[in-house]
Amino acid sequence: MTETTGVTGVRLREMTDADVPAVMTLERTLFPLDAWSEGMLRGELAEPTRHYVVAASGDAVVGYAGLRFVPPEGDVQTMAVSEQVWGRGVGGALLTELLDQAARRGVTHMFLEVRSDNPRAQRLYERFGFVQIGVRRGYYNGADALVMRRVAGEGSHE
Ligand SMILES: CC(C)(COP(=O)(O)OP(=O)(O)OC[C@H]1O[C@@H](n2cnc3c(N)ncnc32)[C@H](O)[C@@H]1OP(=O)(O)O)[C@@H](O)C(=O)NCCC(=O)NCCS
Repeated sequence: MTETTGVTGVRLREMTDADVPAVMTLERTLFPLDAWSEGMLRGELAEPTRHYVVAASGDAVVGYAGLRFVPPEGDVQTMAVSEQVWGRGVGGALLTELLDQAARRGVTHMFLEVRSDNPRAQRLYERFGFVQIGVRRGYYNGADALVMRRVAGEGSHE
């Protein structure tokens, strides 16, 4: 795993059960309308087809992301960064890590869903070569989901 993020003092490492309380605090803050339950997160960590990472600044968790891989397909299950450090490249570092892990495991087609009212996340995904391929009406609490796909070798990956 790429441990450095390019952001001073922020490193990536694998998410463990011990991170769950800190991650859930961020989850409830950053996804006020559709936060996962703690049980969902723990269930994800127990799945062998998942790769979850946290971005840590000292002892503090400032971001996290999760990959589901079933080659040749993979999904960005979740991604979030503490608002205090938005715009410094932590989200990009987390996404780079998921894409690198996915590629190493033979994933060529990555998918994700993102709220239609979340242009910030959509821009980040577009920057990494994700393209909108569909809409899921009413997928989220109060919003549609845009379905995005990134095919290895197409589009950009910085
Ligand atoms: C979406 C989210 C993960 C982005 O995280 P982030 O850490 O701010 O992402 P980055 O800093 O890598 O990129 C965001 C912007 O900052 C800019 N940026 C990155 N590094 C930078 C730097 N060193 N200096 C200045 N700007 C920078 C990027 O160009 C990018 O701009 P763009 O969106 O106009 O392309 C974060 O806003 C978040 O957690 N939102 C709430 C939860 C959420 O929506 N998750 C996604 C669900 S699908």
